[in-house]
Amino acid sequence: FVPGEIWPDTDGVHINAHGGGILYHEGVYYWFGQHMVEGRAGNRAQVGISVYSSSDLYNWEDEGIALPVSLEPGSEIEKGCIMERPKVIYNEKTGKFVMWFHLELKGEGYRSARTAVAVSDTPTGPYTYLRSERPNAGQWPLNVRVENKDFESVTKAIEAEAAQPFSGGLNIRTVQYNLLGAHFEGGQMSRDMTLFKDDCGTAYHIYASEHNATLHISELTDDYLAHSGRYVRIFEHRWMEAPAVFKREGRYYLLASGCTGWEPNAARAAVADSIFGPWLELENPCIGINPANGLGPEKTFGGQSTYVLPVEGLDDVYIAMFDVWDPGNAINGRYLWLPIDFSDQGGVGNERGFAIPWMDEWNLEDFEREHAARLNEAP
Ligand code: GAL
Repeated sequence: FVPGEIWPDTDGVHINAHGGGILYHEGVYYWFGQHMVEGRAGNRAQVGISVYSSSDLYNWEDEGIALPVSLEPGSEIEKGCIMERPKVIYNEKTGKFVMWFHLELKGEGYRSARTAVAVSDTPTGPYTYLRSERPNAGQWPLNVRVENKDFESVTKAIEAEAAQPFSGGLNIRTVQYNLLGAHFEGGQMSRDMTLFKDDCGTAYHIYASEHNATLHISELTDDYLAHSGRYVRIFEHRWMEAPAVFKREGRYYLLASGCTGWEPNAARAAVADSIFGPWLELENPCIGINPANGLGPEKTFGGQSTYVLPVEGLDDVYIAMFDVWDPGNAINGRYLWLPIDFSDQGGVGNERGFAIPWMDEWNLEDFEREHAARLNEAP
C-alpha cells in the first residue's frame, strides 16, 4: 500500500470509491464507495455507488455501479442528489446484501439529513433502492434524559429551527436547544454514517445526528432493512463525523473525525465494552507526518476516516481507511490505508487504545510479523 498516491485498479484507472466501506464475503473483498466525477459537481451523485472486488486487498477490479442514480425527475436518488458513505453488510437469515448510505435530496444542500437503504441478492448488485428516512421516529433513545421529553423545550427547539436554519458545524446554538426532542416525531437526522455487524449477527447503524453534534448508535432490525427503535446517543455535542466501528478482543472501538466539512481535522478515537456504551474517548491515534502534504495528527495526515477493516486470515491486522478529499476536483480524492498498531498504548495516564502511525509504504505480511513482535515486547 502506498497511502495518498494514485491507486490504479486492474484497468489502470484510479479507484473511484470514496467515503467507502468494505464487505468480505466468501473469500472476496468488495469495496463500495461514492463514484465521483471531475470538478466541484463531482461531490454530488452523478453516477451512483461504485463497487470493486479483490482477493488480496492490493489489486482491485472495477465491478461497475452497484447502485446507479435515477434519471427519473423526483426520484429520491435522482442524479444530482448527494449519496455519501455507503456501507454494505450481508444478512445470513435473508441471504440479502444490504446497503445503507447518507442521502441528501437533490437541490436541498445538506438539509435533508436522511439515510437510505438498498438491497441485492448478489454482492456487486445492482442494488434495488428501497426508501429513505430519518430514523427512529417516535422513539426515545435508551439513554434519554428527562429534559429531552420536556414539552416546552421540544416546542422551543421546533420554533428555533423554523425561525432560522441550524448550522451543521460547531456552534453554540445547537447546544442551546433540545434537537433530539424536536426530531422525535419526524425521525432523527442522519448524515455521516457507518454500519457495524456484531459477531452474533446483530447490526448497528452509527450516524452523525442532531445537526452533526451528537452520534447515534442504532440497532437494525433482524433483516437489516429498518431501525429497531433501540438506540443511544453518544458523545453529545462533540461534533464527531466519519465514524468507523470495529471490534477487537471483545471490545468495541470507534475511529472518527471532528466536523469541518471537506477540510481535515484531528481524528477521534473511543473504546467501549458494550456497543451501547458507556464509550470512553481516547486520545488522537495518529502519529507521524505525511510527507506529501506535511500534515500530521492535528489534520489526520490530510485525511478523514471512513472504515476500519479487519483483515481475514491475518492475526490482529486492522486497516484504518481514510479519504483525502479534493472537493475542487472530487475524482482526484485519494485514499490513506494505514495499519492499526495495538502495541502502542501511549505512556502512563495516556488514554491511547490504539495508534495509527504514518507509513510511506507497507504490506500486510511484514506488518503482521512486526506487529506480533511489538505486541510480545509490549509491557
Ligand atoms: C464532511 C463529511 C463528508 C461530506 C462533507 C461535505 O464533514 O464527512 O462526508 O459530507 O462534509 O462538506
